Amino acid sequence: MSFNPKSPGTVDLLLRRRSAKARRLCEPGPSEQELTQILQAGMRVPDHGKLTPWQFLVVRGEAQTKLGQVIYDAYAEETDDAGSEKHQSWRAYPAQAPLLIITISRPSEARPIPKWEQRLSAGAACQNMILAATAIGYLANWLTGWPAYSPGVRAALELEADDRIAGFLFIGSYKEKLKERPRPDFDDVVKFL
Ligand SMILES: Cc1cc2nc3c(=O)[nH]c(=O)nc-3n(C[C@H](O)[C@H](O)[C@H](O)COP(=O)(O)O)c2cc1C
Repeated sequence: MSFNPKSPGTVDLLLRRRSAKARRLCEPGPSEQELTQILQAGMRVPDHGKLTPWQFLVVRGEAQTKLGQVIYDAYAEETDDAGSEKHQSWRAYPAQAPLLIITISRPSEARPIPKWEQRLSAGAACQNMILAATAIGYLANWLTGWPAYSPGVRAALELEADDRIAGFLFIGSYKEKLKERPRPDFDDVVKFL
């Protein structure tokens, strides 16, 4: 079957898409085949110089529990807030939805492409995965928060010095009605030169 990129339904998705709150996402999560599609959509993003400046870590089941412990321990180690309610809540952070994909921005030096552009490509990967998940019938939430900047979490994920966590992408089913969120005023954002 030939591919026809003309797709009014996609424009509708782009104009109406919403995130769900990660903690309200529930089972079922994507099947293996759907997960592969979501990841492939993440790889099909603008990438100046063909550098593939991103990696995707799939975190499900036991790996979510383990990462929760890593975040919990790192928070105790790196803050003065050990024992607080917030500290407790970080343990459940990675498991709040059926599926977590962590997008790592990993710039390459193989070509003289500005790092900024390579970081943007990682952002595009995040958004493509969210859109793919949404188009399949799930909802998603792109979060960062404290764990994205923790040296302990970075070490446990075996990140390299220049790696950045571009996003924790939580994906799952959503059974509630989504409320609209205020959007910027068109004229505040757009200037016709
Ligand atoms: C890089 C990045 C990090 C984000 N981190 C958080 C976060 O930690 N917590 C949060 O509530 N929203 C965060 N957001 C915003 C949500 O992903 C989402 O955009 C927001 O809830 C609005 O929903 P919408 O996607 O329907 O506009 C982040 C967005 C981006 C692009």
